[in-house]
Amino acid sequence: MEHITKYIEENQSRFLAELFALLRFPSVSADPKYKNDVLKTADFVAEKLKEAGAQNVEVCPTGGYPIVFGEKIVDPSLPTVLVYGHYDVQPPDPLDLWKTPPFEPTVRDGKIYARGACDDKGQFYMHVKAFELMDKTGSLACNIKFMIEGEEEVGSSNLGIFVKENKERLKADVVLISDTSMISLENPSLETGLRGLSYLEVEVTGPNRDLHSGVYGGAVANPATILAKIIASLHDENNHITIPGFYNDVQELSAQDREELNKAPFDEQEYKEDLGVDELWGEKGYTAIEHTGIRPTLEVNGIWGGYIGEGAKTVLPSKATAKISMRLVPNQSSDKITELFTKHIESITPKYVKVKVTPHHGGEPVVTPTNSVAFKAAEKAIEEAFGKKPIPTRGGGSIPIVSLFEQELGIKTVLMGFGLDSDNLHSPNEKLDIANFLKGIETIPLFHKYFAELSKS
Ligand code: BES
Ligand code: MN
Ligand code: MN
Repeated sequence: MEHITKYIEENQSRFLAELFALLRFPSVSADPKYKNDVLKTADFVAEKLKEAGAQNVEVCPTGGYPIVFGEKIVDPSLPTVLVYGHYDVQPPDPLDLWKTPPFEPTVRDGKIYARGACDDKGQFYMHVKAFELMDKTGSLACNIKFMIEGEEEVGSSNLGIFVKENKERLKADVVLISDTSMISLENPSLETGLRGLSYLEVEVTGPNRDLHSGVYGGAVANPATILAKIIASLHDENNHITIPGFYNDVQELSAQDREELNKAPFDEQEYKEDLGVDELWGEKGYTAIEHTGIRPTLEVNGIWGGYIGEGAKTVLPSKATAKISMRLVPNQSSDKITELFTKHIESITPKYVKVKVTPHHGGEPVVTPTNSVAFKAAEKAIEEAFGKKPIPTRGGGSIPIVSLFEQELGIKTVLMGFGLDSDNLHSPNEKLDIANFLKGIETIPLFHKYFAELSKS
């Protein structure tokens, strides 16, 4: 333990300078205008892995952005930890809401503000630095492999192929991911599940062109109105989702499991104040912890149509569009839900308009085992570093490749996240507390140590 804190103390300013350099790359995978920056980020990550002591470092080309691989095999008889992370980030928009520019990392009040600070550059970089620490202090207890991808935020569509083609190279005993949240430094937690995702676009078309809303309005259905009605009908008065069959495969938790889950500290007042809302919303019969953890949801992510520029323009739009996502829980299937959604939308759309539903990416929900050697090692590591046993929680976000690792490689995952839900992931002013960054670097070597120890017995 002492060698860990000493190394971190002596090197923390360099660790932070390196993370800042990583955060300065605008590696937005969704927008082709950043293509060169994303590619440069992959090279930078590879360079840093090499410097940290990794071998066989390779920037592996895919049909999209490359996957950075690196490893250090200390002794084939030791267990192997496969670290997954992503170097791509979400678009920084809306830019005017950032207090400081998204790709100029700035420290305020002990927190690093930058796009990717938490999701996921700041978090996967903890593993790079923890690895450096273990390697330089001769304390590597496990073999380690890194797989850092550049397309997580756009659905990881090339990662599946890479995993299938590199099964031998990726062989490991556990996948370790820091790309989720914990409750707080005072209340460390470990996520034991993630929701799945089904993401679609709904386009409603009325007249064959935009019309003068005075000349034609009243005689022709307005696609924006129809789309709004369709969307509004997708929740009933109890905020249940109305798509027939939607809840068929939802796994209901036992009363005891629900009670356990709701023991996690949650201050509703603080939560509301942080978000600036007077009341919370949600499916009747469940708590806020359950709404975001074990219940499926349907959200509009974007909706547009007609004139959205400055001032007023009297127009009856020809088209209206919405991007809609559903978060899924065990044992719902992304493909099945996509199909149910499409059929339902088609069946409720009135004849005044035409509707087109286009699926985007999806992903399956997962639960991670809590009785495994790896989970116990994570619990012990957190308990030692934070002085408190971690609380098991269920995460609301999605990391679709977790189920893929299980399917293709037969390896289970441990979700050891060090960010906070309030770190503004995907929002303006994304941040990471420096204390969380350093705590992560301190906890990870302990995980390796306990994973090796517990694997032996
Ligand atoms: N790191 C997040 C997922 C996450 C965040 C899980 C916080 C649990 C807690 C990841 O980068 C992400 O944003 N995933 C997307 C899905 C992906 C297919 C675009 C998501 O959850 O929306
Ligand atoms: Mn992420
Ligand atoms: Mn993300």
